[in-house]
Amino acid sequence: MARHFLKDDDVTPVEQAEILALALELKAAPYSRRPFEGPQTVAIIFDKTSTRTRVSFAVGVADLGGVPLIIDSQTSQMGGKESVADTARVLERQVASVVWRTYAHSGLEEMAANSSVPVINSLSDDYHPCQLLADLMTIQEHKGKLAGLKIAYIGDAANNMANSYLVACATAGMHISLAAPSGYQPSAEVVARASQIAAQTGGSVTVSSDPRSAIAGADVVTTDTWISMGQEAEKAKRIADFAGYTIDSNLMSLAQADAIFLHCLPAYRGYEVSAEVIDGPQSVIWDEAENRLHAQKALMVWLVDQSNKGK
Ligand code: CP
Ligand code: NVA
Repeated sequence: MARHFLKDDDVTPVEQAEILALALELKAAPYSRRPFEGPQTVAIIFDKTSTRTRVSFAVGVADLGGVPLIIDSQTSQMGGKESVADTARVLERQVASVVWRTYAHSGLEEMAANSSVPVINSLSDDYHPCQLLADLMTIQEHKGKLAGLKIAYIGDAANNMANSYLVACATAGMHISLAAPSGYQPSAEVVARASQIAAQTGGSVTVSSDPRSAIAGADVVTTDTWISMGQEAEKAKRIADFAGYTIDSNLMSLAQADAIFLHCLPAYRGYEVSAEVIDGPQSVIWDEAENRLHAQKALMVWLVDQSNKGK
């Protein structure tokens, strides 16, 4: 049975720590693991646009001895023409793993259910778990630990990044505090799942509409765009609804003096974050962007290892 990675709690706390440790190892020794030697091919499919994910998966697969096959779904038979299940059955005969950025999360579940090779979610409407591996790795590098730290997420808490922060940070034993206006708070289902995980790891989950209390004393501060891919038609309404939720230096001053700032990017300066914060001394966004590469390589190595164990 192949192991898949579709959402942040598809791995246990111990497994998450294993992947993060391997990511640090691979950052120090980039060509030390070659699971795709052959070379084997990894299909990397995009239904949505991307810069970081496209580059980091392509480079990562090559570093691991394989060949990345980038597929823009508009130029394939996927979508209206051929089902996800049939696509999975074609791919599994020829590639070592499938990486897919898509809209509905259910598509990924269908791909995984029909695939004998690992399927990786490289962003869906509901989760962005590869980004969270990079974020946790970056926090680990800068703070030396994860468990017990407070992370504040201010902004659109109903999107894929917020869901992934909730579940991944709870898995890591962190205290996650989200602030979002009404209508943009996470679903009760995801909050309940994260809270249940946090109860086991010693972390905690807090959701409010007050950015000042959410950020107070935080070790890590983060946000994401107010307008995710697919929500472009709501742009004007969203900008109005998120007034007061910009992370600027005033708000940042309520966090710990040595707090770090993360952003998955792309960022919209002047909206979810001010230029002085994202381009300032507390920002570690370029380490975070680089760590996509190392974290995803670790994930691919780990998933191949796990999948082979079952054979
Ligand atoms: N953070 C992230 O996933 O970036 P891309 O959309 O450029 O891949
Ligand atoms: N929430 C954003 C993340 C981009 C990496 C989006 O889905 O567009």
